[in-house]
Formats: sequence, structure tokens, C-alpha cells
Amino acid sequence: MLKRRELFHFVGAATLMASGVGNAIAAATKRFQHYPFDPIAAENFQQNLFIPVDSGPFGILDVTGPLTMRATPGSLSLLPGKPSPFLLYQTEQSGKSYQNPILRMNSGDKLKLTLRNELTEPTIIHWHGLQTPSKMDGHPASTIDAGKTFDYEFKVLSRGGTYWYHTHAHNLTAKQAYNGLASFFLVDDEDQRKLNQTLDLKLGETDLPLVIQDKQFNAQGQLRYQPNGQEAMMGWLGDVILANLTPNAALKVLPRTYRLRILNGSNARIYRLAFVKDKERLGFTVIGTDGGLIESPQSATEAFVAPGERLDILFDAGQAQAGEEVFLKSLSFDPMENEGDAGSMPGMGSSTSRLEIGADFNILKLTVGAGERVINKLPSALSRIATIPLKGANQRSIKLSLRGMDFLINGRKFNMDENAFDVKRGTREVWTISNPKVGMPHPIHLHGFSFQVLERMNSPRQIRALAKFGKGLTVSDLGWKDTVLIWPGESVRIVIDFSHDFPGDQVFMVHCHNLEHEDAGMMINYRVTG
Ligand code: C2O
Ligand code: CU
Ligand code: CU
Repeated sequence: MLKRRELFHFVGAATLMASGVGNAIAAATKRFQHYPFDPIAAENFQQNLFIPVDSGPFGILDVTGPLTMRATPGSLSLLPGKPSPFLLYQTEQSGKSYQNPILRMNSGDKLKLTLRNELTEPTIIHWHGLQTPSKMDGHPASTIDAGKTFDYEFKVLSRGGTYWYHTHAHNLTAKQAYNGLASFFLVDDEDQRKLNQTLDLKLGETDLPLVIQDKQFNAQGQLRYQPNGQEAMMGWLGDVILANLTPNAALKVLPRTYRLRILNGSNARIYRLAFVKDKERLGFTVIGTDGGLIESPQSATEAFVAPGERLDILFDAGQAQAGEEVFLKSLSFDPMENEGDAGSMPGMGSSTSRLEIGADFNILKLTVGAGERVINKLPSALSRIATIPLKGANQRSIKLSLRGMDFLINGRKFNMDENAFDVKRGTREVWTISNPKVGMPHPIHLHGFSFQVLERMNSPRQIRALAKFGKGLTVSDLGWKDTVLIWPGESVRIVIDFSHDFPGDQVFMVHCHNLEHEDAGMMINYRVTG
């Protein structure tokens, strides 16, 4: 029973041993990691980070009226001289056209949007982290066929924060999201405006949405997505790391504070983020998580971000001298993948990514420019988080498990027409989500409501080391959350307030945001009723 990681080393070492090269492991590492856009090689980081402007790809779109969003085949130029086919959301407003627009709205505003499916297969949009009636949520049951349209209309109830939207097409989410159908949804409110004002931050200049993804490309520059048995079971990994769709991204910065709204938009890769100058770690400040700003800024030197999660941070580039380079990296970690007997079944294949899960690699190079250092005093309070009262909350256990090659929730695989349980509208529940030791980490995501993380229990050592906030919580667990990473052997308690104003039965879902797991059915419906 080999882990994906061990398989990688095993293959590398065996090849080199056969060719008689000494120091097999070190050489294997080198040999296997040398490829175009290899993110381990710092010298590769030469491409200017893509920064969104007010139109075009990932253009920032301040929504002022009804939109028609077309899901279409298209292409983006990511690799020099080789346009890559992509699936894109295209729309127009006030004479400007956008591909995968970064939608921006004020909390409380109404979104009216028609999705037109111009793909050759079914699709639907889900508003990740927003609270909408279930009919507007992009549940896979709402998936529309090619050529059809879907009308969305809902009020943006969420507080200010960095949300996102992506395809949730039944059984096609992983492939479609990987091929491009995803972007940011920024919600603005008083707290957000105040923060950006105080720190003199401007969206698109010093306040940067930053989506991190891993992809595989073939020699023609096309995205490759062909999971074998192993990859379908464990999740698809890429070996080219994209920051805002830029491979080996580099950005010139001034000696001042930048806000990075980080989204892990990868199918399955978990990142352990840190800023590193030579061998030295530089600190950063966490100001927000999935559902907007946390109460007060928290300094950190690293944080895990799992697929679906957001981390809103401030980085003071003035910590480095003019001319110095700082890398936003993913540090190495133990991926804790141990798929039991299933992973060594014949015909499963091994990971085709040249970048193993848990590897140490670079994501973005920051080069600090000359100029006077600007120091802005951080506000001590960012926002108010009303703690959900625990009194009278119902207890529920959500058990993740592995059966054969399937990861399950409460013993079930997704069944469109079945609700795993009912919750009573207006009640509060404490969920204990537990992950068995044999298996892998799962980022568990809830539709319909945000939650608060209460406690991590039995965490692995690499998580315990980051538990600085009592009850085993790490900085990634603070504030309002919609996705929480559960490590093998761990139990995580969350509290949810099932209050909303939507009438009648509302069916939402709980699922793993490893997108291969989601499509494979690591997903259940629950119904809000009464
Ligand atoms: Cu971002 Cu149901 O997912
Ligand atoms: Cu969601
Ligand atoms: Cu999972």
C-alpha cells in the first residue's frame, strides 16, 4: 500500500537506479522536477502576474443592472505563444465585455442574471459562500442543458467578503471548473470600505484578488484533464502553478502594504502558504477568511488553504529592501494520504502530476522596488463577528468514511432525490465532522449558511503546531466560514444558525470541495424545513 507521495519517489528512484545514477533520491527529485514552468525553480518566475482591470478577462465588473452571462468555449493566452482553450463566462455591461468577470456588488443589492448555456454539455452556476434560496443556489438539480437558459434573481445577503462563483453541473463540476468556469464574487460593505480607506488600498492595484490553481498542460498548450483511477479517487493535481492564471508569476511591488484576497481555486491541491525571502520567513497579517473580515488582524507566518477556502491577508512588502525578492510559496507538508487498500488496486495508475501533493514550491515572486517605505497603522478592530450561541443547539455528527474506492458522508453517496437529514429552520446545530485515520484530508463545504468553527480535536501534529487560537483552531478557522479542512483522524466541531427568511422547504448540500470527490458523490442533500 503505497501513498501517492511514496509512489512518486519510488518511480523516480527506480528509474535512476536502473540507469546507474548515484544518489538516487536527490537526483530523482531533480530530474522529475525539471520541466517547463516548474514552480520549484525560482529562476522561472518571470511572467508578469495578471492583474484584473475593468474589462476583459477577469475584469472587475461593478454590477449595475441585469446581466446575461454566457457559458462558452473560448481561449486564454496563458503560455507564451500558445493560446489555451478554456471554458469561459462571457458578459457585457456598458459597452465593455468581460470573460470570467470578477463580479462586485454591495451587500444588500439584488443580482439579476441570466445564464445562457452555450457549451455542448449541461451546466449551472453556484454562488459559493452566498446565502440564496435553494432554487437560486445552483444545486446540481438545477443543471440546464446545452442551449438552455437559467434566470437568477436574489438579494446579496452576505456581508462584505471574497466569495466566488463556479459551475456546479451535475457530475461535471471538476472538469468544467478546471477548464475555466469559475471567478470571484466580491461583496462590499462598510467594514470593507473602511479598511481599504484606512490602509489606502485600491482594488486592482494594492488590493489584489489572487486565485491559486494547479493545472497540467500538454505540449500544445491545452489543459490536460484525464484522471486515472488513482487521480479520480484522490483528486486531480497539476504541476504548473497559476496565480491569476499566470504560470511562474512575478510582481513588482512598492515598499508598502498589499492586500491579497487569496482563493484556492484548485480541484484538489492544498497549499501551505508562507512568504519567504532567501531562507527567512516573513510575517503577514490575516484579516479575513471565507465570509469576510475577522474581528481583528492576526499575524501569521503560514496558513493552510484548502480547495474552496479564501484567505484575505495583508503583506507588508516594506519588510524587504529595494531589489530583494520575496516568494509567496507553498511549504512542504505531510499530505496524509493513505487510501488504505483501494489505492494499490491494479489498474489504478499513479499520479501524472510532476508536482507531488505536499511539495515545496513557489507561487508568486514579489520584487520590491525603490521608494520610501509606507507604513500604515493597522486598525485594531476590523469587524464584529456575532458569536452563534451554543445554548439549545442540536448536536449532529457528520462522519466521513472510505468504502472501497469511495469517500462517503454519513455512509452515503450523493443521491439527487434524497435528503440525508432535515434541520428545523431557525434552530442552531453543532456538527462534529470526523475523518477516519485511513483516507485523506477533505475540505468540507456547506451550502446555504455560513458557520463558525468551534474546535479541532485529534489534529495531526502539523495542524496542532498552528493552533494558536484555543480549542485547536488555526488562523484559517477564524470568522465566518463555508469550507473547513478536516485532516485524517481529526474531528472538527462547527456551529450553524439555520435562520433565514426563505419560505418553504429549502434543499442545500454538504460536500467535499475536492472536486473529484464532489463529482464522485462525496456530497449529501439536507433540507431546511418547518
Ligand atoms: Cu464551491 Cu458546492 O461548491
Ligand atoms: Cu458553495
Ligand atoms: Cu474529499
